[in-house]
Amino acid sequence: THAAIPTEKECSSITPPYSRLLGNLSDVRHLLGNRPLTLAEKILYSHIADPVKSLANGQLKRGETYLQLSPERVAMQDASAQMALLQFMSAGMSKCAVPTSIHCDHLIQAVDGAEADLKRSITSNQEVFDFLESAARKYGIEFWKPGSGIIHQIVLENYAAPGMLMLGTDSHTPNAGGLGMLAIGVGGADAVDAMTGTPWELKAPHVVGIHLTGQLSGWATPKDLILHVAGKLTVRGGTGRILEYFGPGVFNQSCTGLATVANMGAEVGATTSTFPYTPSMRNYLIATGRAPVARAADEAASTGFLAADDGAEYDEVIEINLSELEPSINGPFTPDLATPLSKFGSFIREQGWKDEISAGLIGSCTNSSYEDMTSVANLAKQAQAAGLNVKVPFLCTPGSEQIRATMERDDVTNTLQGVGAVVLANACGPCIGQWKREDKKEEENGKLHLASRPEVLLILCFSNFDIFQSVRRSSVGLKLNLTFRTSSNFKSRNDGNRLTMNFLASPTIVTAMAFSGKLSFNPMTDAIMTPSGKPFKFSPPVGQDLPSAGFTPGETAFYPMPIPEPQPETEVIVRRDSQRLELLEPFPSHFGEDCGNMRGLELPTLKVLMRVRGKCTTDHISAAGPWLKYKGHLTNISENLLITATNDEGGDVNVAFDHDHTALESETDTIPGVAKRFKARKQPWALVVDDNYGEGSAREHAALQPRFYGCAMIVARSFARIHETNLKKQGILPLWFANKADYPRIGAGDSVETSGLADLLKGFPDAVIKLKVTRRNGEVFEILTKHTMSSDQLKWLRAGSALNHIRSQIAS
Ligand code: F3S
Repeated sequence: THAAIPTEKECSSITPPYSRLLGNLSDVRHLLGNRPLTLAEKILYSHIADPVKSLANGQLKRGETYLQLSPERVAMQDASAQMALLQFMSAGMSKCAVPTSIHCDHLIQAVDGAEADLKRSITSNQEVFDFLESAARKYGIEFWKPGSGIIHQIVLENYAAPGMLMLGTDSHTPNAGGLGMLAIGVGGADAVDAMTGTPWELKAPHVVGIHLTGQLSGWATPKDLILHVAGKLTVRGGTGRILEYFGPGVFNQSCTGLATVANMGAEVGATTSTFPYTPSMRNYLIATGRAPVARAADEAASTGFLAADDGAEYDEVIEINLSELEPSINGPFTPDLATPLSKFGSFIREQGWKDEISAGLIGSCTNSSYEDMTSVANLAKQAQAAGLNVKVPFLCTPGSEQIRATMERDDVTNTLQGVGAVVLANACGPCIGQWKREDKKEEENGKLHLASRPEVLLILCFSNFDIFQSVRRSSVGLKLNLTFRTSSNFKSRNDGNRLTMNFLASPTIVTAMAFSGKLSFNPMTDAIMTPSGKPFKFSPPVGQDLPSAGFTPGETAFYPMPIPEPQPETEVIVRRDSQRLELLEPFPSHFGEDCGNMRGLELPTLKVLMRVRGKCTTDHISAAGPWLKYKGHLTNISENLLITATNDEGGDVNVAFDHDHTALESETDTIPGVAKRFKARKQPWALVVDDNYGEGSAREHAALQPRFYGCAMIVARSFARIHETNLKKQGILPLWFANKADYPRIGAGDSVETSGLADLLKGFPDAVIKLKVTRRNGEVFEILTKHTMSSDQLKWLRAGSALNHIRSQIAS
């Protein structure tokens, strides 16, 4: 069983190899002329696989140079781990090259409360958990069972360490940045790079410095800091950038508070977020049983490794005085619509919204720290003493079994339940749309929800964000009286209420509002009438950073064996008739006569399937909710391809036109319907898409599915970073319009031929890819494109996918 307090030996497996990293960094410094470095640069550059070889020309430009990196660890959640493991299995290795963990959290549905939900979800997902556990055993992966907690909390509590570089197959992986490291959310194929020991490629990000002065006080929390940053940077402001916080304001915050800030950097699209090593990080490491890691970090910090150099240059600096920060409420529909609490009442009056909330949700991986929970319990106690209970359903999702057990021991759970809270399982639940909401039916539209979590509330996290987007699309669709050609499950996929508006706020603000029941409630100024007719006003919440009696591990049966040995004789369980798991067939290369392409190293002639209009997140491309259960079954999940995307030709959702249809087929079909026809005809195809295509979660299915149906190229006004990389990994060529105005010039049924790609593949890096477009009306013209393909990524394209390339490397 898991040792609650790790031994020195166990800590050796989770301590970053500081002396090697410092040696690497010194090589890089030398090659870069000893210029001062930001902390983010130090951590990244110390993980370059072979600095002397890759930086021989002394060139390393942020935003341009591709780095080949060696991450130290991989963490995967149960939904994304399925496809990652299926891909890893097809690489043909006997064990993982780096320590890897699997966390069962996304597949637990929230209905009745922790115990019943866990039991039911284990039964309904048994074959997936069996698959994950057997694969973990075979390859020596740490398997955190359902009930153990949410991936990012467990990583923070067990694996994160200052100066480490980690990949996680979830967009909120940056949460671990709260411990002064770089944790980056990636798709399964990137995780497979690290798991196979293949250097993982990342374009050197820009670094935004966020200089914190002053001190949070009163009702302002770290959550409000990141909500404020989201408002400033917007959902695209972090793309291709690392957010590096520095200044005195970092040093008076708790480690878990910093983790909240890092977690939600994902909402602005940041590659990740980080902080210099602080005493609160050391205290957190010690409190979670990792004193040896803290000692090693102290030593590394004494060399200057765990903070930026004096004079380090940031690409942009944002100044924030924490003393001036007030609570923020972000939303609805987007995490960057930030409204200061003092202005929120007038904001909702201007909008004409009903001043009522229908549910409050707190916890999840972003806001379930001991400090969050004790602050919330402090408010609950105040309200209870005044004779108040919550006025709306109030759900709490502990982030881990350790948090749950410590809350229970310290009377926090009792206090919350005493005022009417429901404590859910230690899992994602409502945050990922796994909320079987019984209190509000679809017809009761227009009610407002308030939650402290992006995911939970539909906003921020990929999951939340996805939910937000789907709600937004639904409401816009209803207003315009559009018909959705989607699966019938989709309309009620989140909480069953298509017009739910969701907002993000700190857990303490959410709690105060749950007692008031009003969206306009400002606990700093407003009072609630008590049953005795007296007005009650909250005092600012008081929480406790770390439990004075230490953490208690709770049910250790949920935990894995530390450092498990691979058991190669284990058979990985995939049922032949499974509807949820399917072994992967390698994608064929686009090139060569074998696949019918007579155009050499140019792509075959492609048909455009459709032109996608406007915002198209990975949730539009591969919807979540009920589709989550098919994460490990590519054929089944591909039925949801782009089902909520809008066709720019006609403006309808999930409508595509097949201009080559037979007499037996209709011209109009669903998008997956037309994609299936193209696949059946062996007709490779292309998509034309708008700005920031593929924003949102790191969901690699959004790249796998179009590839599965035969997509070879996507031409965009712009791409979101992770999704663009995912497309490359699966052998789809992402091209950017050199002139964005060319977007509407290509439409469904047009033929497109590349030129210039062959030169690029032959090693001429300056070759320009042009597209010869033959419209359905016979008009022919050429357009210019740009690309971000590195030489290694071109090898993936050539091989048909990154995995095909890795497999051939391992074989040779
Ligand atoms: Fe889970 Fe939501 Fe976090 S889906 S991982 S609790 S962002």
